[in-house]
Amino acid sequence: MIRIAPSILSADFLRLGEQVQAVEAAGVDRVQIDVMDGRFVPNITFGPIAVSSLRPLTRLTLEAHLMVDRPEDFIDSFARAGADTIIIHQEATPHVHRAIEHIHALGKKAGIAINPATPPILISEVLANVQLVLVMTVNPGFGGQEFIAETLPKIRRVRETIRQHHLSCEVEVDGGIDEDTAPRVVEAGADVLVAGSAVYDAKDGVAAAIQRLLASARAAPV
Ligand code: DX5
Repeated sequence: MIRIAPSILSADFLRLGEQVQAVEAAGVDRVQIDVMDGRFVPNITFGPIAVSSLRPLTRLTLEAHLMVDRPEDFIDSFARAGADTIIIHQEATPHVHRAIEHIHALGKKAGIAINPATPPILISEVLANVQLVLVMTVNPGFGGQEFIAETLPKIRRVRETIRQHHLSCEVEVDGGIDEDTAPRVVEAGADVLVAGSAVYDAKDGVAAAIQRLLASARAAPV
């Protein structure tokens, strides 16, 4: 089952609530909230207030993607704000296992993200603990970037490891996902596609954009 996870980074912030409700009406099951601290990535976006503002407006799963240093310092606040899934970066803390346990102790789903230069072996010890692996297909920090094709073999390796160990975590990809790259990442093993600009910059609206992404993703060779 292929899923599209619209990223609000490219949404119209003057009407963020409506933009989230529009993708909910289009049938997605989640949105991704791109949290950036200006240190782990060269950009600053928003904190827990973005989650708490959206929480009462939608029944969608809210995925907080923490592109921040020391994510363990922010797990409580994003959980309290109403995030359903909290994704931390392997590169951002020496205490990945403890952070994942902390997320679970708060009743939330845990995701682990790896940047383009990070080999999957560095998350092998926690693959069985997480509900989602996020393979970054751009260097995090901005929307609208070029897809990094060198990440395709990595997606394949992550999927193969999950298969070999009979794990059930989702393989999510993020960055440069559009109608061209969607079938390529699905063929490599991704099942959740984060898309910001391909959804929110579409001239014919988010619903048509999501349907196009799904159609191209499902056309991937099995
Ligand atoms: C990290 C961000 C972006 C965003 C998706 O830079 O996490 O990847 O979600 O951006 P697009 O889909 O516009 O590449």
